[in-house]
Amino acid sequence: SQAKKQQLEDDHTLMEQVARYFQHQLRSHPNSQKAISYLKGRGLSGDVVKQWEVGYAPSEWDGVLSTFGTTNDRIRQLIDLKLVNQNDSGKQYDFFRDRIMFPIRDRRGRVVGFGGRVLENDSGPKYLNSPETRIFHKGQELYGYYQVRQNNRHLDKIMVVEGYMDVVALSQFDINIATAALGTATTPDHLNLLMRSTNHIVCCYDGDNAGRQAAWRALENALPALKDGVKLTFMFLPDGEDPDTMVRKVGADSLLSMLNDDALPLSRFFFETLLKEHEVGTPEGKLALKAAAQPLIDTVLGDNQRAMLAEELAKHTGEYDRFRLQQDIAQANQK
Ligand code: UTP
Ligand code: MN
Ligand code: MN
Ligand code: MN
Ligand code: MN
Repeated sequence: SQAKKQQLEDDHTLMEQVARYFQHQLRSHPNSQKAISYLKGRGLSGDVVKQWEVGYAPSEWDGVLSTFGTTNDRIRQLIDLKLVNQNDSGKQYDFFRDRIMFPIRDRRGRVVGFGGRVLENDSGPKYLNSPETRIFHKGQELYGYYQVRQNNRHLDKIMVVEGYMDVVALSQFDINIATAALGTATTPDHLNLLMRSTNHIVCCYDGDNAGRQAAWRALENALPALKDGVKLTFMFLPDGEDPDTMVRKVGADSLLSMLNDDALPLSRFFFETLLKEHEVGTPEGKLALKAAAQPLIDTVLGDNQRAMLAEELAKHTGEYDRFRLQQDIAQANQK
């Protein structure tokens, strides 16, 4: 409806203004020096901070509230957009306090949410993201996607990395192909968004267990959206590294060649993972592998991709498949 459209427009305008406010605080708040020092300490240039519109939410309970909450309607809107919290006794206060702020733009460039990082690693959750709101749906947004597309409408590849800092650091090293899922696993919506702009998606994770697990979740979620003709690969960084630390250590060229040479194709990561869990030296093992793999393979959208994985599965379970075939034939003959 017209009223709803107007509200969305108002929401986006307010979010944009709040993003500007945080940026302004980083430059001019009396206590912003520690935020600036923090960013410098992370190796970020002034240019890249400006380019990514990084800001600072001051250590105040009513910075956003008093600046933007000029009417009751406005306060209501701030609460709806989760920029202001209201506790049980009705007290209102800023959601983001004393954090480095990353505005999250949707694919059309509208600010829909924020990620906020603490300055010291011991105070509260390291990253606080805007909760879901009427304009912010984490499963649909990718940090950096809008900016990646600004440079190029179609890209040879797009990276999916874990964090804001990874996206920003890579861009400082002229790698402008990185997007981050916002503290959630990559969803089919994410994949669909990415496939609009590229035929090659590289998921780039830590090499540790957590990274492997995140990658597996991404894989499971991606399969139902995976079209034929789209290459999905998985890059695991050495333990303890993320794209931010890695690019600073080895440089952009090395990181880019790692992406080309060391990323595992989907099929490889898929079977490597499952073969670790299922010993296929016995018929029972083959049966277990098949039981684990087949339901996932069945979800794959692209016919060719599905057939490719099914064929690969048959290579590992060949004996079992022949047995199964005889059973199926016998059963069909009975009917
Ligand atoms: P990481 O935990 O890998 O961040 O989370 P990091 O690399 O250590 O952080 P930096 O480099 O010190 O800043 C990666 C991403 O996971 C989400 C955020 O999107 C973050 O960028 N995350 C992490 C959260 O949403 N909440 C958290 O508490 C932690
Ligand atoms: Mn993650
Ligand atoms: Mn991590
Ligand atoms: Mn990091
Ligand atoms: Mn990390």
